Amino acid sequence: MYDQPNFLVPRQAENQMQRKMRFGILGTGRITRRLIADLQSTDQTEVTSIASRERSRAKWCADQHGIPNPVEGYHELIKRDDVDAVYIALPPSLHHPLSLATAEHNKHLLCEKPLALSHHQALEIQNAFHNKRWLDATGWLHHPRTDQFSKWVADGSLGEVSHLSAALSFHQPFQSQDHRLSRELGGGCLLDLGWYVFGFSRFFAGKKPKAIYADSLIQKGVPQRLNAMMWFDNDVTATVSCGYDAATRKWFEVAGSVASLICDDFTRPWHDRPTRCWIHAASGQVQSYSFEGNQERNMIKTFVSENALTDFQSQAIDTALIIDAASKSIETGEKIKLGVLEE
Ligand SMILES: NC(=O)c1ccc[n+]([C@@H]2O[C@H](COP(=O)([O-])OP(=O)(O)OC[C@H]3O[C@@H](n4cnc5c(N)ncnc54)[C@H](OP(=O)(O)O)[C@@H]3O)[C@@H](O)[C@H]2O)c1
Repeated sequence: MYDQPNFLVPRQAENQMQRKMRFGILGTGRITRRLIADLQSTDQTEVTSIASRERSRAKWCADQHGIPNPVEGYHELIKRDDVDAVYIALPPSLHHPLSLATAEHNKHLLCEKPLALSHHQALEIQNAFHNKRWLDATGWLHHPRTDQFSKWVADGSLGEVSHLSAALSFHQPFQSQDHRLSRELGGGCLLDLGWYVFGFSRFFAGKKPKAIYADSLIQKGVPQRLNAMMWFDNDVTATVSCGYDAATRKWFEVAGSVASLICDDFTRPWHDRPTRCWIHAASGQVQSYSFEGNQERNMIKTFVSENALTDFQSQAIDTALIIDAASKSIETGEKIKLGVLEE
């Protein structure tokens, strides 16, 4: 069991004050600079320190965002007494070692996607957190819209779901040092974008696939484009595509016997546009929906709340297994049965 929030500090018998969960952040990159505002504007959390490999960079970022303690070195931050939870926003190869270090120092963990480089590493992370919370920062799972997706599938609005498809891409002239281009740092679209499209399939199928076939275009040592097909129980199938060589897409379709659910912004709503999706009926009639809510702030609230995180954790562990299987399929050119990988 998780240890329940030690954030409830009794003040007076009739008046309890909630102490905020104190976050320390590892890394000063793009996603950090986005999430800081959400951590600072959520009632239950605050940011007490931020670490960089370089002290000057930590100080620059701390000064910009009003964070009291800039720290040089990731391990130095993890050890700090004024940190309850560590947010890891670093290249994928650093997620596993620093997650384990976070567990060793008895802190909670919010780790950027992909949780780890492999299913084995993901399981090690899960096993390391006996009584502390851990969550991968896959924001779309926490948007209120995602609950509505589940309701539509469960209440039969789509009929019987038979096929899932997703496409995710962006066209990015990377800088040469970008971790997405480095094999050693866990770069490439298989881990970076595959986390979303395989996670999407696992989410709507409600379980991992029985088998997968994947192919990838590898350039500069990392997968730049990936296509995969998956087979689930009950004859549900999925096809997904992702890569760095097409204009931005973040689409999915959940095809049912009565209607299809279509979304063109599932990983993150388009800037300055309402969060949206459509249900297309067989007649061609289209029902449009839009939603309020901030997925990152909801994710943070879920992370600090007393709710069990096990559904999200299983989703992450299964996604890591699917990525392993896709990787093996790319390597061997064969369709891979997931059960064999787990044995
Ligand atoms: N959830 C989301 O929506 C989302 C969106 C984008 C990215 N992400 C994930 O967040 C993580 C970070 O991505 P990002 O886009 O923020 O990357 P980024 O802008 O390149 O920042 C990465 C940070 O990692 C640190 N770092 C440590 N060793 C490094 C190395 N050898 N090479 C490069 N950087 C190194 C750097 O911090 P210091 O120099 O300060 O130490 C750097 O600022 C990735 O896992 C990515 O998949 C998630």
